[in-house]
Amino acid sequence: MKKIYLYGNWKMNMTVAETKKFFEDFAPVYAQFKNDSGLEVGVFAPFTSLWAAAEGAKANGVVFGAENIYFEPKGAFTGEVSIPMVKETGATHVILGHSERRHIFGESDELVAKKTKAALDAGLIPVFCYGETLDERESGHTFDVMTRQLDAILKILSPDEIRKVIYAYEPVWAIGTGKSATSEQAQEVCEWSRKLIKDPNVVILYGGSVKGSNAKELLSMKDIDGALVGGASLKPASFIEIYAEYKK
Ligand code: 13P
Repeated sequence: MKKIYLYGNWKMNMTVAETKKFFEDFAPVYAQFKNDSGLEVGVFAPFTSLWAAAEGAKANGVVFGAENIYFEPKGAFTGEVSIPMVKETGATHVILGHSERRHIFGESDELVAKKTKAALDAGLIPVFCYGETLDERESGHTFDVMTRQLDAILKILSPDEIRKVIYAYEPVWAIGTGKSATSEQAQEVCEWSRKLIKDPNVVILYGGSVKGSNAKELLSMKDIDGALVGGASLKPASFIEIYAEYKK
């Protein structure tokens, strides 16, 4: 049985009060799977809620991380948050290259690669997101775009570092739309990614409208090791339901 990674990306949701409430509700829902060694749960919180997430994550035995970082350790970078600041909370992971960072905030492949390298150098595990837009898919450029996004990190990381990264394939057209990729589409890209990365053992997640009703077909695919979940991760019941449905 493969291990399943169930990671929740809270995006710009969850105040401190809401984070505390989430973990109060989370404990009873998660209890049935708490000792399941085939599951790793993680939550990714906004910076201001990281300390509250740290407390909740520790109490429940789940991992947690930030949704972004800047690659410089400190200095005149108004509005940015450094890796040491994030690590101080006890966070072990960080989401990098999410399509919302790439497309809304203009993060380039090079910037995402610099952040990925800096995170690894500091001992944070990057959850590296990549994926194509609808236009890119429909014009037949899915694999060119993803080759460019992945090559930006593969060319600067050592084989050991490449192995430590958690990859998350998130087709932009499936994010927040309720329209997930089919399990065949997601499997095709994850299998292709594993070959491009040239390491059969890397962890590759799928993200984009994952919920209880499509969890089993997606997570049962051979090259999909788990899910990066947006909307459904904001409530413990809909978040954990994803794994419960997979196990059925
Ligand atoms: P949704 O699950 O809301 O589609 O979001 C996916 C995502 O962007 C996770 O990073």
